[in-house]
Amino acid sequence: MTDFTAPRSHTQLRAMKTAGRKIVCLTAYDASFATLAANACVDLLLVGDSLGMVIQGHDSTLPVTLDDMIYHARAVRRGAPHSLMVVDLPFMTYATPSQSLDSAARLMRESGAQMVKLEGGDWLCETIHLLSERGIPVCAHLGLTPQSVHQLGGYRVQGREDSSARRIEADARALQEAGASLLVLECVPTPLATRISAALTIPTIGIGAGPDCDGQVLVLYDMLGLNPGKTPSFVRNFMQDQTSVSAALSAYVNAVRDGSFPSAAQCFSA
Ligand code: KIV
Repeated sequence: MTDFTAPRSHTQLRAMKTAGRKIVCLTAYDASFATLAANACVDLLLVGDSLGMVIQGHDSTLPVTLDDMIYHARAVRRGAPHSLMVVDLPFMTYATPSQSLDSAARLMRESGAQMVKLEGGDWLCETIHLLSERGIPVCAHLGLTPQSVHQLGGYRVQGREDSSARRIEADARALQEAGASLLVLECVPTPLATRISAALTIPTIGIGAGPDCDGQVLVLYDMLGLNPGKTPSFVRNFMQDQTSVSAALSAYVNAVRDGSFPSAAQCFSA
């Protein structure tokens, strides 16, 4: 038996932060896994553009289109009709505020998403203000932002130097001020994510960002050990001690909720 009540909106995610209840987020790309994740009481399903890599076999997320995202988000919505769902706006579909509004409107209307996610720093403030004013909740994404992999020079930890840590922290505050409802922090040192999570009123969701974020997210295929390539150090394979996918998903949910994931082995120091 559980007292679990699935959050239905970003305001409930904020209430979870206030109550100190960890938010469990997981990527999903199809109906079957979405059903299993919802049954395991995952709070938030992220239809991530990581699908470009784990589903489509590209070496980055850049080739993913808005049509791809809508196709997969609709499948997830059919599999988990009552789950809170955030969907990535893919590369170059939010380069200007007006393009963002068109892209986000399509995503929300055609997929049933309750929130859109975009990657980037304070250059997104005007866009986030516009979207949230028009009724579209926004999840921001800082740190390692995979759509900028070529600009960043690879998939590497961000915010290790004082200047870049200060920049990420300032961006986080600016994005919240602009109207973001949620913030993903990817591959940043634990002390930086801890500071940001304490400073913001909106929830932070970490991936390779330490245990003090308000919630955690992993790529489904990584945490099930389905990644044929090199597994990132911040990933734990939840399948290896289990005999079913459902049991692995429950183990992930429990580990996030009780704070045993991530442990030091899955974190980055400054
Ligand atoms: O695309 C994705 O799956 C993501 C997560 C890694 C946070 O953005």
